[in-house]
Amino acid sequence: MDLRPVGIFDSGMGGLTAVRELRRLLPAEDIIYLGDTARVPYGGRSVAELEDIALSDVRFLLSSGVKAILVACGTVSSNCMGLVMGAAGVPASGVVVPAAREAVNCTRSGRIGVLATLATARSGAFEREIAAMAPDASVLSSGTAELVPLVEAGRTSLDDDGVRAALTGCLVPFTGGAVDTLILGCTHYPLLGAAIAELLGPEVRLIDAGAAGARETACLLREGGLDCRARRIGGLSLCTTGAPGPFESLAALFLGGERVPRARHVEL
Ligand code: DGL
Repeated sequence: MDLRPVGIFDSGMGGLTAVRELRRLLPAEDIIYLGDTARVPYGGRSVAELEDIALSDVRFLLSSGVKAILVACGTVSSNCMGLVMGAAGVPASGVVVPAAREAVNCTRSGRIGVLATLATARSGAFEREIAAMAPDASVLSSGTAELVPLVEAGRTSLDDDGVRAALTGCLVPFTGGAVDTLILGCTHYPLLGAAIAELLGPEVRLIDAGAAGARETACLLREGGLDCRARRIGGLSLCTTGAPGPFESLAALFLGGERVPRARHVEL
């Protein structure tokens, strides 16, 4: 049994989708979550910028004594996961491989969509992983910069005209039977999941990349004998490079009823 915390990071609120699932699966684990809101969004950045950012996020979590790292960010996972794994020195997982695997297991037609950030779409990472797992599958991938700022502003409802307009535009490629499974390849997007499901209808199944990453991390911890089997509810520590107040309020909203602790401002 290992009582050290699990480290999870993202550019902002998106990785909370992974936190939520990991707390459901392994409630005894302590989690340190870093939301790098001073540098959000990641999705329009170059590979070189993403590498620098990812290394500083990893260094911060390692300095907090984590036993494993979950890169709860599709953009970093798809652009520099190898670098992160090399630098981490502890087990590390991203969201691309587990989400691709879940999509391959879920699709019936073999037509899989990926909605993600521009940098993720540019990387071709989902296409590569899916092709390796299911050579006959076809992948339709689309990147957008529109959705992350909405989520970071707490705007996730279809009653919000801006959300409805942005989502309607982003989802066009995936309508009319183009896909039967859509990977929400940016971890911010499951926070828009109810709105996306309403627009696409029940024929399209949604894969939550953050939750898939959390399931992968839970397996890594269990298989490596690193999980915490104590009979307790683990703590959640929220760190942000931005302003703690708004971060805390949105985190409370997105963690769905869980009492969230005070967020701590950190400099990277
Ligand atoms: N949530 C992240 C992702 O999964 C980052 C989005 C962004 O900051 O642009 O891609």
